[in-house]
Amino acid sequence: MPGSPWLLWLLAWILALVPGAQPAAPQDPEEDPEATPELPVPCDYDRCRHLQVPCEELQRAGPAACLCPGLSSPSQPPAAPRLGEVRVLAEKGCAKVHWCAPASPVHHYQLLLWEAAGAPRRGPPLNNTVRRTELGGLRPGGTYVLCVVAANEAGESPAPGLAGEDPDAAVSPTFGPCGRFSVPPRPGTLVHAAIGVGTTLALLSCATLVWHFHLRQHWGCPRHHQATA
Ligand SMILES: *[C@@H]1O[C@H](CO)[C@@H](O)[C@H](O)[C@H]1NC(C)=O
Repeated sequence: MPGSPWLLWLLAWILALVPGAQPAAPQDPEEDPEATPELPVPCDYDRCRHLQVPCEELQRAGPAACLCPGLSSPSQPPAAPRLGEVRVLAEKGCAKVHWCAPASPVHHYQLLLWEAAGAPRRGPPLNNTVRRTELGGLRPGGTYVLCVVAANEAGESPAPGLAGEDPDAAVSPTFGPCGRFSVPPRPGTLVHAAIGVGTTLALLSCATLVWHFHLRQHWGCPRHHQATA
């Protein structure tokens, strides 16, 4: 076969070349500063992580250069944050709320809570590292609309109820700043309700019996009169 010696020669040549090439590669970048300019890596920044410092601070503090996601202009109000999970703790009357930062410079966050049509309850300002908080004072059996608002020097992110719209109509199931949740009635309330219904039924039965025997005594049954006579 005419091809085989050629192939063998090529193989030998590659085998001779490859192990020889490896020691030539610079192992230590300090020995050869021009060979491997360090590629910037993304910063360890997660916009949904609680107590996440802003990416620019990571860049300033970090030993090596890293890349941050692009942000909107600081001279514009922030884009809307994204509301994440809302976990309702019915027995405590509170809810744990989680959200993710928008791709905008944020100075602080605030939660807005509507119980029915009307003015929202505004939570305290939360600094820009915060992504999780607890909402207290919820009414068992209540249904609420909740929005997360981000603010910076230029203004606030859009929230439906603030612009005079119906907050209820603007609740999007995903990726929006608002959500709707319900607080189940307290188990104790159910027990009380059951006791209430039971008592009412018992009273009604008694009243019916009393009324029944009262009528019998007044009008009498022929058999009853015969028996007593
Ligand atoms: C932001 O608020 C959180 C929760 O209240 C707190 O733990 C954190 O220290 C605050 N961070 C700054 C920079 O004020």
